[in-house]
Amino acid sequence: MVRSPTSGAARAASRVPKPRIYVTRHLPGGALEYLSEHALVDLWEGDLPPPRDELMRQAARSEGLLALLTDRIDDELLKTSPNLLVVSNMATGFDNVDIAAATRRNVLVTRTPGVLSETTAEFTIALMFAAARRVVEGDRQVRAGGWKTWGPEILLGRDLAGATLGIVGMGGIGADVARRARALGMRIVYHSRSRKTALERRYRMEFVGLDGLLERADFVSLHAALTADTRHLINARTLRLMKSNAVLVNTARGPLVDQAALHEALVEGRIAAAALDVTDPEPMPAEDPLLSLPNVIITPHIASASVATRSRMAVLAAENLVQALSGRMPKHTVNREVASNWRGRVRARLKEVERQ
Ligand code: DGY
Repeated sequence: MVRSPTSGAARAASRVPKPRIYVTRHLPGGALEYLSEHALVDLWEGDLPPPRDELMRQAARSEGLLALLTDRIDDELLKTSPNLLVVSNMATGFDNVDIAAATRRNVLVTRTPGVLSETTAEFTIALMFAAARRVVEGDRQVRAGGWKTWGPEILLGRDLAGATLGIVGMGGIGADVARRARALGMRIVYHSRSRKTALERRYRMEFVGLDGLLERADFVSLHAALTADTRHLINARTLRLMKSNAVLVNTARGPLVDQAALHEALVEGRIAAAALDVTDPEPMPAEDPLLSLPNVIITPHIASASVATRSRMAVLAAENLVQALSGRMPKHTVNREVASNWRGRVRARLKEVERQ
């Protein structure tokens, strides 16, 4: 439980009945302090996610949930949480939440887009450089005592300048990757659900079909949301379309890639390298065969992990939660269609909280 505020005003405010919220991990950026001004906060203090039964127990007694992408918010949980009004997901992705079930049960779901785009785009470019210039391989070689000399043909990599980047998914992160890629002198083709003509002009990008993108790109970077349509977008068939010197980068969601097919393509030399910040499952088990390949880089879902960005995400998630619990619909609501029923539920529940 977060400690009570100590100032006089805060003490007075703390006597006003407040909704109860459950926060599933310690948060940076003053988000917890902000939440505790507006709600009774129960905090899971562990470094790992709360166990399922604890998450269910806490959700069942709360009006709000501040959840992370590691928390599964499904119909089973929503069904046993009659007072739950809002799930604020501290992520831009929301595939951990059953949105259809939440909508059916009049629970609002919010997310934190925008604030992490630049940081995620920087990390994407870092992975492209690391894979293309064999940074991790070089480091491993040095640590293993393998640095014997300077040589004209040792650990040769590829340039980004002049190469073609294929961006799959042109939301905020895809666009921020495009901006950086242009500055690096890359040519860009992209594929997205809808055409972004203003961005096309700005970054001189060409809109192409997915197959065409995979056939042309030297680097393929994934920035699509995970949905039933995008699961295993990169699979045995689509991997066959890629160039043998291509590098695959994924900072979006692990299940966009069929990892068994990727392993086979890498072993057979049908693509050159892969750099994955997200895997399926997460965490990736230590015995996963991809980890034995020298041309694979795996990082533990840290593309948005800068001090400033994680604070911004936490604060935005907290603001979304507080706003929703006051009956206003936050800008970053995923399921706006709950609207009319949801507002009625909030009013009724907050009245009950006041009476308690
Ligand atoms: C998100 O916000 O969806 C990211 O994956 C978190 O890093």
